[in-house]
Amino acid sequence: MAKRASKKTSTRRATTSAKVPFIRVAPPGPKARAWLSRDEQALSPSLTRVYPLVVEEARGAMVQDLDGNRFLDFTAGIAVVATGHSHPDVVAAIQKQAKRFIHIAGTDYYYPAQVQLAEALNRITPGKGPKRTFFTNSGAEAVEAAFKLARYKTRRPLMLAFYGGFHGRTMGALSLTGSKVSQRRHFAPLVPGVTHVPYANCYRCPYSLTYPSCKMHCVNVIKEVYFKTTVPPEDVAAIIVEPIQGEGGIVVPPPEFHPLLKQIAKDHGILYIADEVQTGMGRTGRMFASEHWGVQPDIITIGKGIASGVPMGATVASADVMDWPGGAHANTFGGNPLACEAALVTIKLIEKKFITNAARIGGYILEELKKMQARHRLIGDVRGKGLMIGVELVRDPLTKDEAVRERNDVVHRCFEKGLLLLGAGHCVVRFIPPLMITKQEADTALEIFNEVLTEIEQH
Ligand SMILES: Cc1ncc(COP(=O)(O)O)c(C=O)c1O
Repeated sequence: MAKRASKKTSTRRATTSAKVPFIRVAPPGPKARAWLSRDEQALSPSLTRVYPLVVEEARGAMVQDLDGNRFLDFTAGIAVVATGHSHPDVVAAIQKQAKRFIHIAGTDYYYPAQVQLAEALNRITPGKGPKRTFFTNSGAEAVEAAFKLARYKTRRPLMLAFYGGFHGRTMGALSLTGSKVSQRRHFAPLVPGVTHVPYANCYRCPYSLTYPSCKMHCVNVIKEVYFKTTVPPEDVAAIIVEPIQGEGGIVVPPPEFHPLLKQIAKDHGILYIADEVQTGMGRTGRMFASEHWGVQPDIITIGKGIASGVPMGATVASADVMDWPGGAHANTFGGNPLACEAALVTIKLIEKKFITNAARIGGYILEELKKMQARHRLIGDVRGKGLMIGVELVRDPLTKDEAVRERNDVVHRCFEKGLLLLGAGHCVVRFIPPLMITKQEADTALEIFNEVLTEIEQH
């Protein structure tokens, strides 16, 4: 294999000396508006755009629009550009590979980068012992592979998934998704055999008033209610769970949750699938969020940050579980050479530097947001790990009435001031910047967020 990025280059980051944020013209400016109207005619209206950002270029944590406005990016393309936009080492690896060959179907032939990346993923995912990797093109497709593998391995028909969980929008993944009804409306019948159970969303759970003596009601209900009434445990192939719910509102469960869940799975010969599409690849300050609770999943799904923006996903399982014959599952583009090369560099950069940065700066942002909670009546809860942080906005801290309109206003006004944020759940503002974000950039984002909250609270 060609020698990869040198020591010197592998610690640099894509930067810009330009001032960020910088608003030249209220967005969307004239150039952006022209493309917005063409987009409206040409693209599916099902996409979920929340503000009119038309991108010209992006570097590090800076995104520039067509009218010359520069934004500070706290979305990272929905937790994708782990190493920042167009990291020079990632760009160089893609360019070099593109000159060699762009595509050879990995399902038919062999190439070193695909083997190297599978070896790397088998090494960095939690759990000792031999593992195997199946490459996909997206998170949803990684979930589909996990779903099929669980049924194949166990010969059992049923699946358990969680309310609030998001696993993608293809038919199998959508059947497991329990996040928003708009994602499922008019698509029935979905894949049969999926039962949704409550997640440990203590912030919204009435039993949590007695936590920890609620004795993890949400986990016990699986044993005491579902397994005794509607779901025979011996028919369940797998439980699929996000270590921290992302789209559902950055919900961090209490420490007992995942170990208890894993134990239930083990007791009944059920596979435990950790959907780490959003939480994986250093996002939470550990390479995989399952590590926070010392849980070793039987199957892990990966996507988003894996290749710094080149579409890729992966399903990793113990070799014993991923034991299916040729032809059982395959695809044309999975493990594409450009994506493999980008992912190999991404893993190096995350391991070397960005994982520590995610833990350090993430901890700092979390603390600052918690301090902010004391000053803002709209903030109901602040939670997260590493650089996966959510701020829940409520109309009343006692009733926890969701401040949906206010949340949307906050996200929109931050955009107008040059800070890119996204929502999650119904009333959560999500902070998921690239893992290379600096303290200075974090301070700028916090300042804008604070200013916008103050303005909205004054109305
Ligand atoms: C936990 C989780 N699983 C699966 C998916 C689906 O990934 P993709 O959008 O790449 O299909 C997502 C996307 O947000 C996700 O957050």
